[in-house]
Amino acid sequence: MVSLMLIALPVVVIVVTLCHSQLLAFCRRVCARVPSFLKKKVCVSSTHAYVFTESTHGQATSVLAAFDLYSKTHTSFSIGPKKGEFVDEVVKREAPLRVLELGMHCGYTSVRILRLLPTRGRLLTVELDPLTAEKGEEIILVAGFKNPQFQVLTFSSAEAISSLASLIGESCLDLVVMDHDPDQYLEDLLALQSCKVLSPHCVLLLNGTLQPGAQALLEYITSRPEYFTIGHQVQDMVEIHCHTSTHSQGEESC
Ligand SMILES: *[C@@H]1O[C@H](CO)[C@@H](O)[C@H](O)[C@H]1NC(C)=O
Repeated sequence: MVSLMLIALPVVVIVVTLCHSQLLAFCRRVCARVPSFLKKKVCVSSTHAYVFTESTHGQATSVLAAFDLYSKTHTSFSIGPKKGEFVDEVVKREAPLRVLELGMHCGYTSVRILRLLPTRGRLLTVELDPLTAEKGEEIILVAGFKNPQFQVLTFSSAEAISSLASLIGESCLDLVVMDHDPDQYLEDLLALQSCKVLSPHCVLLLNGTLQPGAQALLEYITSRPEYFTIGHQVQDMVEIHCHTSTHSQGEESC
């Protein structure tokens, strides 16, 4: 057995040396087939571990810096500093009291939003995957935010939207961030409209504009210029201004 391995070893070394690039390409192909949900779980755990150990607890800016440093060298699901600054601008300008984030991931965008919310502002953030929700919530706490400034809902976006009335009562959403499954974007916007939970000047922030699902939403929006205006775009993130007050025929609930 040992002698067989001794014979095989030089062969393996030669094959690896000669076929280095082919082997690498093969590995890449195998990796590409790893289901995205599995990749996401691994990615969430390693991002969380890095941010948890490398940031000063209680300081949101330090948490964000750790995220940005990590994503320079690793795959991460955070939107990154460029789109992050865009989110900052929107939050500062709109000073939203009620924010709904669909797709929390590791909590990067949640932390960005929370640190700029007005005192009475609240963030509801939705994450379907329970492990991701747990890790993301921990990061928000590490950044120094507490309940009831934020609430994490381990729901699908559809479930979260249908429970909004009981969660936000009479108030309405001033900002909705969509960074979940783009195939749900349009359906979720329609649900938000029919629940009448969007404030008359609600802003939508859409990540991943190049995804087919996001394109479907944008088509819907552009064909209704009386109800929506497309605002700034940074990379694949765009802001949309809603004019729901002219939209609903019935009574406004907000
Ligand atoms: C949102 O942006 C990040 C980083 O740019 C990207 O990895 C992610 O896939 C985007 N989300 C969607 C739904 O496209």
